[in-house]
Amino acid sequence: MCSRRREWCLALELLLLPHWFLATSIQGHSESPVNALSGRNVRLQISNLPDKYKKLTWFYTPEQKIVEYEESSEPNYFKSKFKDKVKLDLTNGALDIHNVQKEDSSTYLLRVVKVTGNEEEWRVSLKVFDPVPKPVVDIKIQKVNNSCYYLTISCVVPDQSVNYSWRADSGPLPKELQTSVFNVTIGPQNYSKFYTCEVSNPVSNSSSTVPVTLLHDSARSFRVAWTAVWLVVIVPTVSGLLWN
Ligand SMILES: *[C@@H]1O[C@H](CO)[C@@H](O)[C@H](O)[C@H]1NC(C)=O
Ligand SMILES: *[C@@H]1O[C@H](CO)[C@@H](O)[C@H](O)[C@H]1NC(C)=O
Ligand SMILES: *[C@@H]1O[C@H](CO)[C@@H](O)[C@H](O)[C@H]1NC(C)=O
Ligand SMILES: *[C@@H]1O[C@H](CO)[C@@H](O)[C@H](O)[C@H]1NC(C)=O
Ligand SMILES: *[C@@H]1O[C@H](CO)[C@@H](O)[C@H](O)[C@H]1NC(C)=O
Repeated sequence: MCSRRREWCLALELLLLPHWFLATSIQGHSESPVNALSGRNVRLQISNLPDKYKKLTWFYTPEQKIVEYEESSEPNYFKSKFKDKVKLDLTNGALDIHNVQKEDSSTYLLRVVKVTGNEEEWRVSLKVFDPVPKPVVDIKIQKVNNSCYYLTISCVVPDQSVNYSWRADSGPLPKELQTSVFNVTIGPQNYSKFYTCEVSNPVSNSSSTVPVTLLHDSARSFRVAWTAVWLVVIVPTVSGLLWN
């Protein structure tokens, strides 16, 4: 068992070894990542394609070729989900992708065999995002004492890969509150008339504002407003009890 396992390891090493040699013999470059909105057309491009080369291949993953071009022949588009939506620009090696979707996100590889026979490789990472939907903002208010209230403010979008940023009427909120849900304690001196949540990904953003309608400009109307809450919340509860 033990020796068989060793054999297996050896076989694995032999399998891995050529890749390792290959990886070190190819000159590699990384291009800056590309972010795109789903449904748009995107161009993956490298900055310094050699003037002359023998062969050029775009890969979706190291295992999946998209298109290959060899000197004095037509580009060969491989059978893949990209077949009908990509085009190779022979003047600069750029890959144009039509109508990109989230699942097209990947680190694409462009491998070029130069006239010397040496290979050179470029990596271009593409991230595709859906437009951010309009967030749903909600405020829950708890009374702490006669002058302070505890607010739980939440901003929800179905898509999780977003960043949140909050503004109150006094300006942007501190960094530690830039999350989907946060709590603040407010008094009459520092309440805000509204809270705005902006959700964003690298290519789109959307925002919603929730007014803090119960709180007004003075401590007095602050109390009046809370009487209104009392009426809204307590009265139906009491009548509910009476009716049951
Ligand atoms: C109300 O609660 C806040 C926060 O706990 C506290 O800072 C403040 O002194 C309290 N005010 C009164 C009038 O009790
Ligand atoms: C906010 O307060 C609620 C209770 O009112 C609590 O359940 C929640 O964990 C708190 N959230 C944060 C981010 O502190
Ligand atoms: C608002 O003021 C109260 C005291 O009145 C303080 O406890 C609270 O931290 C302040 N809240 C904010 C968001 O600055
Ligand atoms: C969120 O913000 C960080 C820092 O600004 C940024 O690196 C990251 O790409 C953002 N994520 C999204 C989904 O927008
Ligand atoms: C939100 O998107 C608009 C374009 O739709 C852009 O001009 C603006 O800079 C974006 N804001 C942020 C904070 O990313």
